[in-house]
Amino acid sequence: MSATAPNSHFLDLKDLPPDVLRHILDTAKAWKAVRAGMPRGAVDEDAPLAGHTLAMIFEKSSTRTRISFEMAMRQLGGSSVVLQGAAMQLGRGESVADTARVISRYVDAVMVRAETHATVVELADAGTVPVINALTDRSHPCQLMADMLTLEEHFGSMERRRVAWIGDGNNVATSLIEAAARFGFSLVLACPEDYRPSGDATAWAEAEGGDITLTQDPLDAASGADAVITDTWVSMGDADADARAQALGPFQVTPDIMNKASADAMFLHCLPAHRGEEVAAEVIDGPQSAVWDEAENRLHAQKAILAWCLGKI
Ligand code: CP
Ligand code: NVA
Repeated sequence: MSATAPNSHFLDLKDLPPDVLRHILDTAKAWKAVRAGMPRGAVDEDAPLAGHTLAMIFEKSSTRTRISFEMAMRQLGGSSVVLQGAAMQLGRGESVADTARVISRYVDAVMVRAETHATVVELADAGTVPVINALTDRSHPCQLMADMLTLEEHFGSMERRRVAWIGDGNNVATSLIEAAARFGFSLVLACPEDYRPSGDATAWAEAEGGDITLTQDPLDAASGADAVITDTWVSMGDADADARAQALGPFQVTPDIMNKASADAMFLHCLPAHRGEEVAAEVIDGPQSAVWDEAENRLHAQKAILAWCLGKI
């Protein structure tokens, strides 16, 4: 049993009601403002997670997620243990369920970046501490909370705003579809036929009243958009890089595409980026790009996610 009174897991945006997501984002905004000017490693005055430890399991590479979660725990007054999946007994065949039962006896929460979504669900089901999805083949909900923070810092509420996703209908696109339903913005996704987003996510969002449109025309998707978002054409675990480059070639976010969007449209990309592939250098390095704020906001959003999971907000 955990020493804390945890709220719950953070596995996907669709699992959480809008008021919880709103509360997490509002907390992230407030805590970000309070920390302005403090050294990055300094502990927040109220140290809300003092005495708490997060285990971080990585089955895939990471730069932003690894550093932002580790710094989040430090700022919240807690600590973290970083584990590479392949170096654990998990990598030699110990079951996910047994791993979950054991880890739950040592730490207060688990963050996991997994090859398959089922691993994250199984960890959550078999363990007794909150589990946070830090990217799977299905989704990337922590990224979308940082994206929402970045969008709201610029636009205020995103309700009834228009967002365009151009490129691969991947894990980040799935979480964006869920965010559209949860935060009330219109979403148009321009993806090639073979790389459309998950039909399950789209059907769920539409059943929730979400305004989701699929097209194969990037210019059409960008038309009048308040934000244009893309991601790599080849995600971790994708084996068909050549076919993807061919199919996704016409879906590069170019200055022409940004010119179709509204005059103050924002460009977002979860990073890592590939200039000259999914995005032109002039766009990601241009004045409409907010990718560095977006990357920073991983830290602020995740601090609030951690505090919510552990019942502190
Ligand atoms: N955006 C993101 O999750 O980056 P990393 O893969 O570097 O963690
Ligand atoms: N879609 C990308 C996101 C990386 C942060 C991937 O899964 O590799």
